[in-house]
Amino acid sequence: MNKATISEIRKQFDKTLEEVHDAAALEALKYRYLGRKGKIADLFSRIRDLSSESRKEAGELLNRLKADLSAAIDARTAAFSAPREQRSYIDYSMPGYAMHRGSRHPLTQAVDDMLNIFQRLGFDIAYGPEVETDWFNFESLNFPPDHPARDMQDTFYTEGGGVLRTHTSPVQTRYMSTHEPPLRIVAPGRVFRNEAISARSYCLFHQIEGLYVDEGITFADLKGTIERFCRLYYGKDVKIKFRGSYFPFTEPSAEIDVSCFLCGGKGCPVCKQSGWLEIMGCGMVDPNVLKAVNYDTERFSGYAFGLGIERMLMMRLGINDIRILFENDVEFLKQF
Ligand code: PHE
Repeated sequence: MNKATISEIRKQFDKTLEEVHDAAALEALKYRYLGRKGKIADLFSRIRDLSSESRKEAGELLNRLKADLSAAIDARTAAFSAPREQRSYIDYSMPGYAMHRGSRHPLTQAVDDMLNIFQRLGFDIAYGPEVETDWFNFESLNFPPDHPARDMQDTFYTEGGGVLRTHTSPVQTRYMSTHEPPLRIVAPGRVFRNEAISARSYCLFHQIEGLYVDEGITFADLKGTIERFCRLYYGKDVKIKFRGSYFPFTEPSAEIDVSCFLCGGKGCPVCKQSGWLEIMGCGMVDPNVLKAVNYDTERFSGYAFGLGIERMLMMRLGINDIRILFENDVEFLKQF
């Protein structure tokens, strides 16, 4: 052993250290050089083979080598364990940051799923504006001038005399005013009502409107389509029930209940032990509505329905506060 051996070892070490890119490789290098049976220990053990004059110098050289290698390894260890942003070396063995994948909002997913089904059943998709005229939102839909829904308490009015649509039904008359029958559309969208905000109601929510106008359309067509939709969306065992109701723009009118998809109709807290959930309003288009868009009421008839999305989704997801659907809380949305 001489000076040349020692500087050769130092060179080898420096070169290997250059190639170390992770903490595990650094540990292995340390073990190889500074371990109990490592290269340095080996050199120390060979000192006794030297002549007594050379031993002192070799000992000093070796001690310096050992100290330098330890320092180099410590420096690199520190570089690896520094916060990621401050590291001068990349440790390729570290686990990466998990990428969070975004997803569609549960409301968007529900609307898309429903629209898909309606498209398979032959419906086109139509859209209407969220700021409506009084004529489309009320007048054309046969609302008498003093109808309570026009009350300032329910409707948001804009400065120019428009209204934020209170339902998607104005898309019916909007679409009919630019299209001739036969027509079959669904119209998804946001609607607005000036209600006190609470766990059960929000100032905006979503609906899907349906409209089918042709010659000879009857309540049986409405019933068949709704039944079909409910089976495809809620499952084939779902039961549905029509309850007589009233809307200015349909005659006769009904509200539709589906058997509770959580308890299968046996009764649970979500359906308030009734076994049924109310999901939409519907009916045969009132001839006054067809007249408002100059359709021949002798020749044409139609049905319409309006589905509320939030209520249905709340029941399905087991959410008891509607506001969470509008808050964009990432912790909530991450689940979907
Ligand atoms: N527009 C009605 C509502 O918002 C629902 C409905 C639509 C009823 C179409 C009948 C026909 O409550």
